[in-house]
Amino acid sequence: METAEFFRQYTEAYDRVMSSLSMYRSLIALHREALIGKIRILESGCGPGTLAIELLRQGACVYALDQNQYALDRLSTKAKGNEGRLFTYCQDAHVLPFEDEFIDGVSSMLVLPFMDEPLKYLREHARVLRKGGVFVVSGPDEKSRDDVAGVLREWKDDHAAQGLLDDLAMDWETFEKCTRQSVNAVVQNWFGLEQLSGILEADLGLHVVKRAPNPLYKSGYVIVAEKH
Ligand SMILES: C[S@@+](CC[C@H](N)C(=O)[O-])C[C@H]1O[C@@H](n2cnc3c(N)ncnc32)[C@H](O)[C@@H]1O
Repeated sequence: METAEFFRQYTEAYDRVMSSLSMYRSLIALHREALIGKIRILESGCGPGTLAIELLRQGACVYALDQNQYALDRLSTKAKGNEGRLFTYCQDAHVLPFEDEFIDGVSSMLVLPFMDEPLKYLREHARVLRKGGVFVVSGPDEKSRDDVAGVLREWKDDHAAQGLLDDLAMDWETFEKCTRQSVNAVVQNWFGLEQLSGILEADLGLHVVKRAPNPLYKSGYVIVAEKH
């Protein structure tokens, strides 16, 4: 499949499958709650923007960045009426188009695993965060890599329990195929909760205030850190 077509199909299927998963909704809630009261929020690797929409509803200005233009277009369509508070950037997230300390809150949800240079990515996001700002980062760990089939089965069971599986059957077919392809070809970084907390504190000088396993995988990480 041509790359552009892969991204288009994957983006649409990803949006429909993920946004209705109860464990994804739990993850969204952890990011959203950690960012309550923040005005300028960077959603790094925002994808089709389920979280970005909730942050807009919360009253924030959202700086939504992703290298996938299909995802940003989908977000912009869903965000109609919030144009004055949504700013989209189609680019690589290793270098950000913001001045030092411009941002009040950074969200990086399920993005770090894809980065060629994860430390460079993390440092760049810490750079644009103001003092007193919050950095929320989540992702899977090696357990998910070793059991992709098990993770996908749990997500399907969640849809089955909600009676959504028939309606989403075609999306699931695309989603499963593209996810397996993506995990094998693109995902590179499988940080653990302890390891990444240590990096945020020791390498970036952030102060970890909350850390938990990722509800999407029942392992992995959701870490909230502050810049002092
Ligand atoms: C698994 S999706 C997560 C999307 C969204 N944050 C969510 O949780 O649903 C990973 C996203 O990271 C984006 N991405 C991957 N590498 C990137 C890079 N180097 N720069 C910007 N975005 C990137 C992808 O296009 C994709 O939208």
